[in-house]
Amino acid sequence: MSKENEVLEALKVIIDPDLGRDIVSLGFIKDLHIDGGNVSFVVELTTPACPVKDRFQTECERVVSALPWVENVTVLMSAQKTKSPLQAQSPGLSRVANIVAVSSCKGGVGKSTMAVNLAYTLAKTGAKVGIFDADVYGPSLPTLVHPDTDEVYQQNGLIVPLEAHGVKLMSFGFVTPRGGEGAAIMRGPMVTQVINQLLTGTDWGELDYLVLDLPPGTGDVQLTLTQLVPITAAIIVTTPQHLSFIDVVKGIQMFDKVKVPTVAVIENMSYFQPEPDGEKYKLFGEGARKKLIEQYGFQNTFEFPVVPRVAEMCDNGTPVVLEDPDSDTARTFGEIGGMVVREISKLKHGAVEKPQVSFTAGRGIILTLADGTEYELDPVDVRMACRGAHTVDELTGEQKIKREDIPKNIHPTAIGKVGNYAVSIQWSWGNVPSIYPYEALLALAGE
Ligand SMILES: Nc1ncnc2c1ncn2[C@@H]1O[C@H](COP(=O)(O)OP(=O)(O)OP(=O)(O)O)[C@@H](O)[C@H]1O
Ligand SMILES: [Mg+2]
Repeated sequence: MSKENEVLEALKVIIDPDLGRDIVSLGFIKDLHIDGGNVSFVVELTTPACPVKDRFQTECERVVSALPWVENVTVLMSAQKTKSPLQAQSPGLSRVANIVAVSSCKGGVGKSTMAVNLAYTLAKTGAKVGIFDADVYGPSLPTLVHPDTDEVYQQNGLIVPLEAHGVKLMSFGFVTPRGGEGAAIMRGPMVTQVINQLLTGTDWGELDYLVLDLPPGTGDVQLTLTQLVPITAAIIVTTPQHLSFIDVVKGIQMFDKVKVPTVAVIENMSYFQPEPDGEKYKLFGEGARKKLIEQYGFQNTFEFPVVPRVAEMCDNGTPVVLEDPDSDTARTFGEIGGMVVREISKLKHGAVEKPQVSFTAGRGIILTLADGTEYELDPVDVRMACRGAHTVDELTGEQKIKREDIPKNIHPTAIGKVGNYAVSIQWSWGNVPSIYPYEALLALAGE
């Protein structure tokens, strides 16, 4: 075996935990040079914000040093040059790799606070980041962060974005004299036009992540916005009220319509914890987390506490993750940011494996895994396994439908995807579709 191959073989033991494949077959190893006992190579990650960057570097050094002929190992870490799907769309966005939309059904749930802190969390890991405030009625970016200068000008036909602490910023509030007051008279279509001009007409340069702070709601304006530019992933912010579950589902559905995967739900102001490690008070009741997991297979739900400092920091123009980088709050944002980065990386490498769900008369519901394995499920069993409110009492957990109620010949009339992790089945019996996380179907199949 050549020395090159020995090195590559050795490196193959390192598996990317999110993508589930080794770093050699993922094509991460570049510029491998061997000179006697000296080995050098570059590990090119999918994003500079890669959460396992340091671990990869140490492991690469360790496994290559273990080869008997190796004396020195130099491992350089780099990130893939931004490849943008947006080239053809607009010159301003041509070098933006990922657009992450932060959205909420209602106003005032902390969407902008989350968007800004998340953006700065990503920036702290070395990623190039921008924030676009898509809310023309109540632009909040100008109050949340104070840019280095507030002079907006054009260069080569594009608007030069403002900047604060190394993150690029644009908001309607920066280009209108009274922070967006003029928007009050604008109607829907005009709003989208203005936002479009501002978003695609800004010279964002090379960015790993552009965070979009969408206006609250799931109406036409939001839907149009999500169609204007190819959004990589969506994050939904909510608060724990009785209706929040329905709100989140509405949000997921809106993004489904435009084929944007929702990668995280942040339940903001979920609880208040006066003492570190002390009791957590659920001020607004139980949130949507449990139901999202049970009914949508949606594991990526974060509960974010009420933290008075979060509001204070935002008021003085410095996001809390910068002002107080060692705080619990900054750590929580770190977790959320890490998760978003991982989910996006999985999406790009097609590592989100979903079974295909279909129906064949005589066989039943067919679950086909990525490796071709097929499972046949009895439609009656699948119908019984529904965890929706029309089947299971939400409070007591009691089953509302008996097996004998279900017609023997029940079959799907429509099968569709919901969000990233679930499938919806409209049955020949009953009006309300059932929603199944893939995990629930796999469990039924005994996987
Ligand atoms: N976890 C938190 N703890 C304490 N205060 C918070 C928290 N999250 C947000 N806030 C405060 O709540 C208020 C509303 O937050 P924010 O402006 O981010 O909401 P929004 O959803 O963007 O609202 P809008 O619909 O107006 O755009 C702000 O004063 C903010 O500082
Ligand atoms: Mg806002």
